[in-house]
Parts: sequence; structure tokens; C-alpha cells
Amino acid sequence: MHNTRKVLDDLIWVGADDRRLACFEGVYAVPDGVSYNSYLLLDDKTVLFDTCDKAVGPQFIENVAYGLQGRKLDYLVIHHMEPDHAATLEDIYLRYPGVQIICNDKIKNLIAQFFNTDMSAQITTVKPGDILSTGHHELTFVMAPMVHWPEVMFSYDKTAGILFSADAFGTFGALNGHLFADEVDFFRDYLDEARRYYTNIVGKYGMQVQNVLKKAGELTINYVCPLHGFVWRKNFADYLEKYDAWSSYRPEVKGVCIAYASVYGHTENMANILAGKLSEKGVAVEMFDTSVIPASNILSACFKYSHLVFASTTYNAGIYVTMENLLHDIVNHNLQKRKIAILENGSWAPTAGRLMTEMLSKIPNTTFLANPVTIKSAVKEDTLVQLEQLAELIADDINPDRHNVVPTPVIMNRAEVNNDAFMKFTYGVEIVTTHYNNADYGCVINTAMQVAAGDEKKVAVSVINKNYTKEMIEKAGVFNVSVLTEEVPFSLLEQFGFHSGRDTDKFANAEYNTRSNNGVRYIPVYTNAYFSCEVLYKIDLGASTLFVGKVIEADKLSDQPSCSYGYYHAHIKPKKKAEPEQKEGWRCKVCGYFYEGKELPADFVCPLCKHGPEDFEYVPAVTVKKKKGFICKVCGYFEEFDGDKLPDDYVCPICHHGPEDFEPAEM
Ligand code: FEO
Repeated sequence: MHNTRKVLDDLIWVGADDRRLACFEGVYAVPDGVSYNSYLLLDDKTVLFDTCDKAVGPQFIENVAYGLQGRKLDYLVIHHMEPDHAATLEDIYLRYPGVQIICNDKIKNLIAQFFNTDMSAQITTVKPGDILSTGHHELTFVMAPMVHWPEVMFSYDKTAGILFSADAFGTFGALNGHLFADEVDFFRDYLDEARRYYTNIVGKYGMQVQNVLKKAGELTINYVCPLHGFVWRKNFADYLEKYDAWSSYRPEVKGVCIAYASVYGHTENMANILAGKLSEKGVAVEMFDTSVIPASNILSACFKYSHLVFASTTYNAGIYVTMENLLHDIVNHNLQKRKIAILENGSWAPTAGRLMTEMLSKIPNTTFLANPVTIKSAVKEDTLVQLEQLAELIADDINPDRHNVVPTPVIMNRAEVNNDAFMKFTYGVEIVTTHYNNADYGCVINTAMQVAAGDEKKVAVSVINKNYTKEMIEKAGVFNVSVLTEEVPFSLLEQFGFHSGRDTDKFANAEYNTRSNNGVRYIPVYTNAYFSCEVLYKIDLGASTLFVGKVIEADKLSDQPSCSYGYYHAHIKPKKKAEPEQKEGWRCKVCGYFYEGKELPADFVCPLCKHGPEDFEYVPAVTVKKKKGFICKVCGYFEEFDGDKLPDDYVCPICHHGPEDFEPAEM
């Protein structure tokens, strides 16, 4: 039965998974299988992009027939002639008479080499930039030699922004029903196999891949359709970044890959000791036994890590066979720019270290960090010293700053927490409202903020636990935030900030009754925006509770600037009037002139109205004894208190803020 998936309405994946293949290309184990991708475009003309491996031939042929729904196949575009994609080319050619094969000259030659059927009369060769119009879609072609064979080319669908990328951006692993990379956790579950695929299949051709990446960078790409693995329609830039690292031989991880070959365990022991010492110094380590782990996995790890350690016993006067095979693979895959250290063992004539050094010297831009550490048969005390020195060397190279002393963080005690520091944050002034059991509640806050963007926007508010509104939000599970403007009068703040919803209906005198769709009121006056939220999370912060809500409705109400907490203090909060003091003296009852002094001279004449002492009245001194205490920075309430600080559990009786919002004052 056919088994296809849509990439787009007019583009169908007609490939197949192979989970019975033991070794890809006869070399690389594929325990998770592999997919062979082919795509069918159903435009005015029909186009099949590549064919499949013969192992999945029947499924592929059935998929193509189903996709065409009886239509004629007009074009077969061939990007790559390796038989895992082109083995069924002849089948398609024979099944769909008249199909035009679109390819380049090199591919045309390879078709003739691989098949006995002469297809040349139906082959059209293209060059870079040539255009094939299929009706609504327009295809152009990009040559990609050595990614992975010399004949490889890509097609680019200019209409839909689709890059048909041949082997590039593929991965090992069957699709298992998923088609798009965003249908799986690619970077968690598939990145290792993608790296193993890239490094082993095209890792040698980094420069050519870099050239193709430059060409691809000039295209607007909405979809990438490779010949193996997933189709990319989201987050492709993240994968492209990996390709850039791999093809420029840039390590992904500053850390150490240790590969060892050990016959009786002593070389392994040496490698393990080094790994432990590295780990103690904070270095990331991954280890591989070359006798157990396939070279393709270790090669992939060598591309991943910045530092490589190879440990081998001497065997037949040379390098142990699995290690020799690995090093051969590494050199042949053109790995570059790595820091290397070597450990060797040899009971009577250790030669593996020298031979490994010679082989690895062929890697461009290689640095050997030290001379090989040698053991004869087994690790001894002096080896431990050498391994410690090597571990130090590697750790220093990976993190040159690791010896810098990081100052111990100063743990501030309460006395060292300067509350004025908190006033340097930029706060707004908002009213948070809720609706529960047919009643409306609200209070003034200065803690609303957007905490998540994207498709699901989230807003957080912190509400003092003693505020009744906090209890009501907990019960209602919904809240609105009204963002106040600089024009807000103090009376509105007084209405919502200095009373409690326990005994006051704060909306009693409101001339408005505006509600969002969740039924909660918002303040439509002196407000430039409101947000309507469903509570997602609630975090108890001690004196306050943080509510994080999903925004389900929001609107802008005006262009007036939002009121900041600083603006409120400077321009809205009423200033406390100082009570006047009075000096002792005499005041003229006619003009108000004041003479300061205990006695008014008998011959005194008012300098303003010229009246005499008989028109003056005695004014006693008034001394205002100032009370010491603390003033609430939020609502201005003065708490008389003779002490250095208010009690920790003190709460403002007006606005319910705690001692951190009070400052010393005299009144
Ligand atoms: Fe998947 Fe180079 O073939």
C-alpha cells in the first residue's frame, strides 16, 4: 500500500524508510535505519525529484503511482547518482515513457555508466542558473560538487522557496512517520546521528560544503528537502549553524574526546585516570573504546570536541588495529584544527605513540600538546604524575582563566540591603482587578510586566498577600491589568490603594462598568492599555504572591504615557505639609505686621500702617515638637515610631506595604 506525506499541497514525499540495512555504504552501522527521500511536484507539469534505493523500490514505485493519480510523469530531476538514490532511476524511466530526465553533464555520464538502457535521448542537461518552469513553479539549479560526489547538484524552487539539497542536511535514522524536523526534538534526539552522517559521508569536503552554504545563503529558503532524514520548515538556521561548524572544522564543544585501544586493560586504565583528572578540573570528557565503538561514531565525536586524546597499546610493532583504523579514518576525513595528546603502552618496545603522532601529523593545523605519555605494561606512580601534568595542560588550554580566583560572593545580611536600591528599578503604576462571586475587586500595584513573548504572551503581577484582591485572584483564576497614565489623579489611586475590598466596594462610585470577555472589570479612564489574563502559575513570595497569567485579551486605549512609579512620587502623590511653627511677638491688628520679641517698646510705631502699641496683640511662641517615625513611600502614611527600623512584620494600615517601602521621617 502507498505511504506518502504532503510537504505542501502540491509537493508529496514519496520516499521510504529502510530499517533492515545493517551498514550504510557497507561501512556505517545504522541501528536506527535510514530514509531515502524522493519528492513529487504536482504542478501543470509533474516532476519527480530523485528516486530511491532498490531496497525500498516496490514501496517507492507504489508511492509515485499513487501521487500521480494517473497523471503522466513529465520530469525526473536527478541530483545525485549514488545508488541509494538513483538505483531505481531505470525503473521510473521504463514505467513512465517520455519522461524527461533533468540533470547535469556529469550525471548524464554516470547514468550511462550505471545502466545499460540508453536513456540519452530523454536527458536534458542543465547548468547553474538555468530555469525550468513547470507551470506555477520555477526551478533553478545550483551545482554542489563533492557534496557528496562530484556530480551533485541542488534544485531551488523559486516559487515556494524550496531547496532540494541532495545529501546535504540529511541524517541517519528512519523517519518513523515523521516528515518534518519540527515534529521531533531534533537537536536532542537526532543531532548525534546527523553529525555522524555529515562527518562520515561529506566531512572530508568541508571547503565544498562551505561554498554551497554561501550559495544557499543567497536564497530565500522556506523548506529544505534532503535525500535522507527530515524536511526542514522551521529553525533551519540552527541546523545551518551546525553545518557551518562541521564544514569549517570548528569544534562544537570545548572538551576532550578520549579514544583508547587496550588489550588487557592497562591502556584503558591510563585513559580512565586521565579522564578522571580532567573531569576534576572541570573539563568535559567523552570516552570511546575503539574495540567496541565503531570508528564512525568516534570520528563524529572528534569533529565535536576541541581536544582529542588517543591511547593505544603497541601491537605487532605498530598501532593496535582498531586504533589504526580510526586514525586512518580521521586523517582521510580531513579533520582539522584540533589539539591532540597521545598515550601509549608497549611492554618491551613501545612504538604506538610515535606512529600515531606521525599519522595524526597529517591533520592540518594540528597541535600536539605534549610528548606521548608512555607506560610499559601498566600504570605506575610516575605515570600518575605525568597524567596529572597532561590534565593540567589540557585544562589550562581549554580554560586559561580557570586559575583566576573568583571572589567569594558577599552574602549581604539584612542590614546591608539598602532598600533605596530597589527604587532604582523602573516600575509602572497599575490597577489589577478581578471578579469573583458576583463582586469586583482591585488594588494598585507597581509590579506588572510582560514575562513571555511569542505565540502565548504572559504577564506577571505581584500582589501583597494581605490585599483582599490577592485572595480573590486566587479564587477567580483570572485578572486584568489596567496600565495607568501620567494623568491619573491621586483620588483614583486613593480609591484603589488605600482601602480594603474586605469592607469597601471600590467600584461603588465608578461611572463606568467596562469588562473584558472574562467578565473582569478594567479601568477605562486614565488608562492607556489593559490586559486580560488567565492565571497559569502562582508563586508564594512570602509577603506577596506572584501570578503569571496567559494573556487572552489586550487592547490599547490611548497614547498617553504610562505613569511610572517615579512620576507618581514626583508629581501625583500629595506632599505632606509641614505644620507651621510660631515665634513669640506682637502682631499689628490693622495691617498684620509682626514684631518679633517678648516686649513691644512703648513708643513703637508700626512701620507699615503707623499705628501704635495699642493696636498690637501679643502672639505666644508655638513650638512644634516633631514626631520621629517612618513614612510610607507608597501612600504617604506616617507611622510614629521611635526606633531604627520598623518591625519586619509591620504592614502599612492604608496600603498594606511592608517596612521596605517606608523611610525615616519626622513630622
Ligand atoms: Fe545518500 Fe551520497 O548518497
